Order: sequence, then C-alpha cells, then structure tokens
Amino acid sequence: MVAYKTPRELAIMREAGRVVALTLERVAKAAVPGVRPVELDAIAARTIKEHEAWPSFLHYHPRWAPSPYPATLCLSVNDVVVHGIPDTRPLRAGDILSIDCGAVLGGYHGDAAITIPIGSVDAGAARLLEVTERALRHGIEAAVAGGRLGDIGHAVQSVARAAGYGILEGCTGHGIGTAMHEEPAAVPNTGPPGRGMRLREGLTIAIEPMFIEGGHDAGRMLPDGWAIATADRSRGAHFEHTIAITADGPVVLTAP
Ligand code: MF3
Ligand code: CO
Repeated sequence: MVAYKTPRELAIMREAGRVVALTLERVAKAAVPGVRPVELDAIAARTIKEHEAWPSFLHYHPRWAPSPYPATLCLSVNDVVVHGIPDTRPLRAGDILSIDCGAVLGGYHGDAAITIPIGSVDAGAARLLEVTERALRHGIEAAVAGGRLGDIGHAVQSVARAAGYGILEGCTGHGIGTAMHEEPAAVPNTGPPGRGMRLREGLTIAIEPMFIEGGHDAGRMLPDGWAIATADRSRGAHFEHTIAITADGPVVLTAP
C-alpha cells in the first residue's frame, strides 16, 4: 500500500531531508585529493548525530545483500556507480565520487546523492556529472500530481539517451517515508510516458538517475556483495533527491 503523507508528515520529512543535504554539503567540501573515504564517512556520522538524526544505511540489510551495510555513506569512485563501501584508499585528483546519504529523523527518512569531481577532472567526467544532474532535475519536473510514474522514467531516460549514456539496469528510485524503501518499490529511470502508477499529492519518492559514460546499461556486482560497478568499466554517476508531490508541484525535501 502506498502511504500518502499529510502536510504534517511532509514537514518532518523536510527536516530529515535537511539533515541529509547538510551532511552531503559537509562531506563534499572535505572530499579533496588525498582524503580517505572512511574519513568522509566519519564526518557524515558526526554530522547526522549532531542533528539528532540516525544514519539510515548503517546496518541496513536488504534480502539481496550478503551482510548488513557497514557504514553511514555509500561512497562510489569512478566505475563504481552505487553502494560503494567506504575504504581507506585515498581519493586522487581526477576521480569522480558519488556520495549517497540517508538519515532518519522523527521517524521519517531522507535519501539523497551527488556525484562530485575530486580536484580537476577531464571534460568527459564533467559532462557525465552535468548530464546526470540535469536528468534528475527533469525527472523531478515530471513528478506532478495527475501524471504517471512512467513520466519520470521517460524524462530521465531521454536525457541519458540524448547524451549517449547507459542507464544502470536493475537499479531504480523508490518510495520513501517511515521506511527508506517503501511503495512504490521502484521509481524507474526508464519507461514509457503515461504508464505506471498515478502520481498523487502526498506521494514521497526518491528519484535517482544512475548513468554510465560508456553507453552500456549493464552493471557488475563487486566481490563485497554491495558495490555495483559498470560492466564496461567506464565511469558512472548518480544523483538523487527525495521529493514530495504536492498541489503546488514537486517539492525537493533533501535541500539545505
Ligand atoms: N540511495 C540508496 C538506495 O536507495 C542507498 C541504499 S544503500 C544501503 O538504495 F546501504 F542502505 F543499502
Ligand atoms: Co535511494
């Protein structure tokens, strides 16, 4: 069953989303060449705690995963698109880093991700980040009451294909609220417009385009059973916001 949120619930989700956005800002500022992902994870853990929130990802154990998630953030470098477990290998200039953060506050979740350049990056990386972020914006703009879930996927997909990028298969956005993942179970990054679940006021979803520079859609699971890298070994980018559908249009909840 889809849980449509009241304005009171949306106000709480906005506060949870604010914690996520502030955490992403702080981590992004600290993400410079030479820094270790585990150090960024510690900054996120501290920031979330300071706001009296709790990290949603820590100890999260979906059915498909071999073990509970061991960290606060997912930090995915270069050809790792999502669910990278923070490790001790220092970031290098020219890398791109996806920072994915979830926090729960007052019983409601926020979930958002950005992909950022580490030091200066080549033009191909800059374009991949710019296009993936634009796809998220277009997806959000399509999330209007009376529309359909497929309108969002179509908007995201159109941006990827026009740029020649792949769309990571098997991974989607999701409903979000009192659980990090709730119905609708999938908010696809592809799809025919005008199809799928009707979008109504009070619906809260995470939209998360995951694009692949090399143009192939396939991913490959890394041996840790969490991280998903591109099968073609090209770079991937991931942007995500938690949004609400309201009478006034889509509202981004994971904003500062
Ligand atoms: N944004 C990701 C998602 O919605 C984060 C989940 S990572 C996990 O699936 F560690 F919590 F699984
Ligand atoms: Co998500």
